[in-house]
Parts: sequence; structure tokens; C-alpha cells
Amino acid sequence: MLPLADRFGRVAKDLRVSLTDRCNLRCSYCMPAEGLDWLPDEQTLTDDEIVRLITIGVRRLGIAEVRFTGGEPLVRRGLVDIVRRTHELGVETSLTTNALGLARTATALRAAGLDRINVSLDSVRPETFHEITRRDRLKDVVAGLAAAREAGLAPLKINAVLLRGVNDDQAPELLRWTLDHGYDLRFIEQMPLDAQHGWSRAEMITADEIFERLGAEFTLTPHGEARGSDPAELFDVDGGPATVGIIASVTRPFCGDCDRVRLTADGQVRNCLFAREESDLRTAMRAGASDDELADRWVTAMAGKRAGHGIDDESFLQPDRPMSAIGG
Ligand code: GTP
Ligand code: 5AD
Ligand code: SF4
Repeated sequence: MLPLADRFGRVAKDLRVSLTDRCNLRCSYCMPAEGLDWLPDEQTLTDDEIVRLITIGVRRLGIAEVRFTGGEPLVRRGLVDIVRRTHELGVETSLTTNALGLARTATALRAAGLDRINVSLDSVRPETFHEITRRDRLKDVVAGLAAAREAGLAPLKINAVLLRGVNDDQAPELLRWTLDHGYDLRFIEQMPLDAQHGWSRAEMITADEIFERLGAEFTLTPHGEARGSDPAELFDVDGGPATVGIIASVTRPFCGDCDRVRLTADGQVRNCLFAREESDLRTAMRAGASDDELADRWVTAMAGKRAGHGIDDESFLQPDRPMSAIGG
């Protein structure tokens, strides 16, 4: 087994696979209303190519967990089959989704061996949901969550991004709703990964602000368990057992404990969410590279991983690829 190690002693075991860059929502902090220039079909990996690369990751490179992302992974036709074939490799599988259409597929995904689901939901008010996502689909998300629970996908995590002047006054309301439904909520600091390059540090709602806003209605105390490579800091809510998480990617980076590596829908390895270089496994694979050669390329790509995202550095440059084409 070749470990996916970098120069800073970190070893990647968690593979995040983006299955498509397309999405059926248009969240304002992610992409413009008209959408983006999607990847052409011929550049997108086939189901077999994806499974081949995942298999190399698991059998040769020590990948122990695979998370499927997008764009929106539920819009990919072969999703259930890809999940099943990945599950058969004996690794944990999970999905990050906006939950549109999940009500129809949750049972099939669970039957295929999917272990966990994280759902993006920034507001439980229909008008705010519409304002952020530019679509009137809150009901589908709520139904998708219920179906996922019914199918036995647990725990169910909800990811929320707070936007100043849009939903930043709704943090306690969102937490109340998720507690009532038995879901695990995590708030995420907005990162400079939007397609429009409109992120502003001054506008971002910080982890401290999130903590303060929740503090107006709840008592939060550090959860205490070792966090490992989990991006979320967990807090007990009103003495527990319920918890809430804060993912402070910008103000309290967790890069030192990173164990993640990413594969894009067009077959590029990214050693970091903020990587400026990618390693092209698709072209190598289509030119006939062997599994050994692909594994070697992947190992080389990881060796170049930087110590951290460097958002606060003078020289920081937002990656060319937006979040929707990386998968978060
Ligand atoms: P769990 O295994 O359930 O903890 O999943 P996760 O939190 O790693 O994955 P998810 O896709 O739900 O991501 C939640 C948020 O954390 C998203 O905004 C991701 O972009 C962010 N995130 C995940 N991994 C990283 C990372 O390596 N670096 C940074 N900066 N953010 C990350
Ligand atoms: N910063 C932080 N989180 C983001 N997400 C999308 N764009 C950003 C961003 N710029 C979230 C989504 C989803 C997860 C994959 O990442 O809301 O929950
Ligand atoms: Fe890992 Fe890069 Fe995320 Fe930092 S920003 S935690 S190094 S993927």
C-alpha cells in the first residue's frame, strides 16, 4: 500500500468524489442565476472510470472513506450503481446533497450501501430559501430529509451558510428546527470559492458571530471529544445530548489535521480544496495508463499539497475552479 502522504506528515484517507458540476439550485453564494458553462460530456468521467479510480484509491492508496459530492450528485444517473460498487470495496460511503429528489432515491441509496448523508439547507423559511437558492423548493428538501431518515441514513447532518442581511438572523430558528427534527446542524463560514469571485472577508459571518447569535437563545458548551480531522467544532446545546457544529474554515483553519483528497468530475486530483494545480488522471487513463501508473501519479500529486489554504496571505489567489466544480 502506498500512502497518500504530503511533506507535512498528513496522510489522505478521505476521498471526496465530485460526480458532476451541474446543479438544480442556483445558490447566490455559489453561482450566478444563469448557471455556469458545464463540463462537456466527453470530459466527464464515465461510471466505470470513476469506479476504477476509486478502486485504485482504496486498494492501493489507503482510502478508507468516500464521499460523493457535486454540483448536485443526485442529478447523476449512475449514482446508485456507483455507490453500490464503492460500498462493495468495503469503505464507508457518504453523500453531500441539496436533497432535491432525495425523497425518490433515499431507499435505493441505502440499499446500495450508502452510510450517511449531509444536506445543505440555509433557511427553513420558504421565502428566504427561495431568495438564496433562486428556486421555490424548500418542501422537496424537507421531504428528502424525512425520506433519508426513514431509509435509515443516520446521522443526518445539515450544512448551513449564513449570509449577512439575508439569513444571518435565522441561526437560532434553524437550530430549533433541526433539534425538533433530530438532525445535526453545522454552520459553515463562507469561503472564497464562488464562481462570481464576489466573496468578501468583511461580509462573511464569522464563527464568533455564529456562536454569539446562537448564544442569544441557547447555551453552548464545548462538546469535548477529540475532533480528529473533522472540520466541525462541536458544541453541546443546552447541556446536550444534542450538538451543533461550526466549520470555521476561514477564521480557525483546520488544515494541519487534513486527511482529504478530491477527485473532480473530469478526473483531476486536487490535493486541497484551494489547490492551484491539479493532476490529470483522466487523460492518463484514456491514454492507457496502468493502475500502477495512475497510483504513482496520484501519490506525486499529494506530495505537492501546501500546508494550508492561505486565505489570509497577501498572495492568496482564489482557485480557478469554483466550489460547484470541486464539490466542497
Ligand atoms: P463529515 O464526514 O460528515 O464530517 O463531512 P464533511 O463535513 O467533511 O463534508 P461536507 O461535504 O458536509 O462539508 C461541509 C463543509 O465543510 C463544506 O462547506 C465543505 O466545503 C467544508 N469542508 C469539507 N472538507 C473541507 C476541507 O478539507 N477544507 C475546508 N476548508 N473545508 C472543508
Ligand atoms: N463556502 C462555504 N460553504 C459553501 N458551500 C457552498 N459554497 C460554499 C462556500 N463558498 C457549502 C454548501 C454545501 C457544502 C458542500 O458546501 O452549502 O453544504
Ligand atoms: Fe485540507 Fe486544503 Fe481544506 Fe485546508 S483547505 S483543510 S488543506 S483541503
